[in-house]
Amino acid sequence: MSRNQHQGLAIVTGGSRGIGAEYAQRLADRGYPLLLVGRDKDQLHQVRERLIRDYHVEVIAECLDLSVAGASHQLFALAQQHKTHIDMLVNNAGFGMYGAFTDMPMSRIREMLQLHINTVVESTRLFLPAMIERRSGAIINVASVAGFLPIPFMAEYAATKAFLISFSEALAEEVREAGITIQTCCPGSTDTNFHNTAGHRPANPLGSQTVQDVVQASLTGLDKHHSRITVGWQGWLSDRFSRFLPRTMMIRMAGNQVKPRTRD
Ligand SMILES: NC(=O)c1ccc[n+]([C@@H]2O[C@H](COP(=O)([O-])OP(=O)(O)OC[C@H]3O[C@@H](n4cnc5c(N)ncnc54)[C@H](OP(=O)(O)O)[C@@H]3O)[C@@H](O)[C@H]2O)c1
Repeated sequence: MSRNQHQGLAIVTGGSRGIGAEYAQRLADRGYPLLLVGRDKDQLHQVRERLIRDYHVEVIAECLDLSVAGASHQLFALAQQHKTHIDMLVNNAGFGMYGAFTDMPMSRIREMLQLHINTVVESTRLFLPAMIERRSGAIINVASVAGFLPIPFMAEYAATKAFLISFSEALAEEVREAGITIQTCCPGSTDTNFHNTAGHRPANPLGSQTVQDVVQASLTGLDKHHSRITVGWQGWLSDRFSRFLPRTMMIRMAGNQVKPRTRD
């Protein structure tokens, strides 16, 4: 995709930092006007100012908590205020939780289900019809390699990402002939604030990748209409191991890698 000042809007949820801020930067570099949402007003403002300064594109930054029921309608309404059509939706906002399921506050679990599942499904339902009508557009759903397998001590996180992978891949096939690309981006451990928010960093013997690695693989894949991108060694290992190890053993190994230790 070459730089083009006249394309439609690209929306990035969780555009205030981490992988989302990198999507915002790379899409600004491609000339997209942007709508960025997140909850941290100052961080959003900083990203907005930097992108306007460096890439001379229009950037709208709006505070929006996407873990609240009805947030997808607010996002849709914000996007409709923009004069052009919507070319791209990057459903990236998310957070992790580590620990025993029964230790997790129910309110936090509900937030995760709402943010990772309901908001993404509802937003897709709201934005996709116009893309189909125009026969162009793309949706990137940022899932995780954690969605490849049930993971003890990250049970709800892994399950929400498994849902996203299944949902996105099925939909990608449904709309392929309409000229729409739906991509599931599955990063492994990536250097962001994610693990601080989650309150724990699991054992990571082979290191993490950068946000640049993730977004470059995603957008290069998008140019080629790839519906699934996996970035990092965890996805590669999980794929190879699953060919010859029993699933129960894989789940146990995953749990051992993630399990919080008393030292942490
Ligand atoms: N880092 C990793 O190792 C890794 C690996 C695989 C997948 N992922 C996925 O990558 C995505 C981005 O994570 P990251 O690594 O970039 O983490 P991050 O640095 O913590 O960024 C998370 C982003 O999501 C936004 N967000 C969180 N809750 C939100 C809410 N309720 N409403 C609106 N925005 C919200 C945050 O903005 P505010 O705080 O301003 O709301 C922030 O912009 C997530 O979906 C995550 O599951 C991350």
